[in-house]
Amino acid sequence: MRGGGVISSMEETIYKYIEEHINPENEALDWVIKQTHVRTNHARMLSGKIQGQLLRMLVQMTGARRILELGTFTGFSAICLAGALPEGGHLDTLELNDELEDLIREGFERAGVADKITLHIGDCKQTLRQLRDHVYDIVYIDANKREYNEYYNLVFDMVRPGGLILADNVLWDGKVCMEPVPQDQQTQAIVRFNDAIASDKRVESVILPLRDGLYLIRKL
Ligand SMILES: C[S@@+](CC[C@H](N)C(=O)[O-])C[C@H]1O[C@@H](n2cnc3c(N)ncnc32)[C@H](O)[C@@H]1O
Repeated sequence: MRGGGVISSMEETIYKYIEEHINPENEALDWVIKQTHVRTNHARMLSGKIQGQLLRMLVQMTGARRILELGTFTGFSAICLAGALPEGGHLDTLELNDELEDLIREGFERAGVADKITLHIGDCKQTLRQLRDHVYDIVYIDANKREYNEYYNLVFDMVRPGGLILADNVLWDGKVCMEPVPQDQQTQAIVRFNDAIASDKRVESVILPLRDGLYLIRKL
């Protein structure tokens, strides 16, 4: 399982090959991955090295300076995003589970990105209301799948025109395109989210079939 998605052994081989061809190596990220396996039961929630590298490169290629992340977990993607920020850039990252705080902060220190990040512990919907006057170049949505539409509506006005909203796990193990679509709440919520994005005239978008599906949404 990766990010909620089941992958075949051929895909596993391909992912391993790609991971072996990512540079540069990052010792702090390896530490976070290891600690996530040792200290949590949810290592599959990590964005993973391939997506982490894509996030880094999207930050660099777009010249982003202000980033918002919903769903820090153990800090893996936050380190990737913040590590790619230029001098003076900043990441706000939002996490519900306060038991992860020590692990998250130690990872940020090890990666040398602690001074670029504000970690907000609490329900991100609450925190977003406090941050509503901020403007972001990139928003990465990776928290509760049942709430993606709500997150999108809350963050939309906080993204500058031309900015990006990225949403992870939008293929949800392929369940979103099964016939019939499973009725569980998470699948149904992601289906509603994907349909809303596809018909939203305020954005252009594409789903990358990377891991569990990453929606790239550009605000016009
Ligand atoms: C898939 S994980 C995030 C993975 C992380 N972005 C990474 O790549 O390592 C989802 C995280 O969202 C958090 N979460 C779920 N609901 C939330 C909420 N309402 N507010 C803030 N965080 C939430 C969970 O506690 C979990 O740590």
